[in-house]
Amino acid sequence: MKLKLALLGKGKTGSKVLELFPSASVFDSKNPPTLPALKGHNVIISFLPGEVFKKLIPLLLKSKIPVVIGSTGLNFPKNLNQKLKDNKVLWIKSSNFALGMLLIKPMIETLGKIGNITDDFSISLSETHHTKKLDSPSGTALSWKEWLGMDVSIASKRIGDELGTHQIILKTPYEEITLIHKTLDRKIFAQGALLAAEKVLKTKKKGLLDFRELFL
Ligand SMILES: NC(=O)c1ccc[n+]([C@@H]2O[C@H](COP(=O)([O-])OP(=O)(O)OC[C@H]3O[C@@H](n4cnc5c(N)ncnc54)[C@H](OP(=O)(O)O)[C@@H]3O)[C@@H](O)[C@H]2O)c1
Repeated sequence: MKLKLALLGKGKTGSKVLELFPSASVFDSKNPPTLPALKGHNVIISFLPGEVFKKLIPLLLKSKIPVVIGSTGLNFPKNLNQKLKDNKVLWIKSSNFALGMLLIKPMIETLGKIGNITDDFSISLSETHHTKKLDSPSGTALSWKEWLGMDVSIASKRIGDELGTHQIILKTPYEEITLIHKTLDRKIFAQGALLAAEKVLKTKKKGLLDFRELFL
């Protein structure tokens, strides 16, 4: 099936989706999405601010169109997964659609096993983003903390137009392991969201799933 894409938000990240998929219909503040305007599209990608996306959830549910949610910094309604299942619709969420993030989870889970080897260690977790980022710490850093399975504090820095760097440093008295994920171009988020959109058209899964679950 050919992708007929509706894109919500064409800011710093949404504009990269448009570069990779120029035939997408674009919705923003000047042209907000409505049910008639969304009709005919088979996937919606959102790179709207989280709070703006949250307000659109009832409308998007009514559209019954699958949604790939790039928007971050929002809590999803508790019954959303069930509502989507009842409506037989699939929505995909991820705080970071970078392809490399799919590989990094098992690496972080492995670092989190250090406690099985020694108590004599320290772990630091940090993230750096541009000054306009609304949520802090980043959703990605919160996921990394969860995957580590430890109560580490997250150091957040906001510098210029920094695209996004996440880092874990694990130290024992005589060695050090550093894991860094650095975004080189916002196109990586657009590429991942478009990959999710293509996968959504090919799967029978329904409900609210994480990006990673499309590859399991
Ligand atoms: N999951 C991921 O991989 C990933 C990666 C990067 C960013 N993000 C997230 O994506 C979101 C957007 O980030 P960004 O840096 O691209 O933001 P941005 O540059 O500020 O762009 C926001 C877009 O949303 C539109 N918008 C704002 N308010 C609106 C409203 N009330 N109604 C309709 N459209 C509205 C803006 O349109 P106007 O200019 O017309 O207002 C603009 O096109 C953030 O939540 C960010 O954290 C996620």
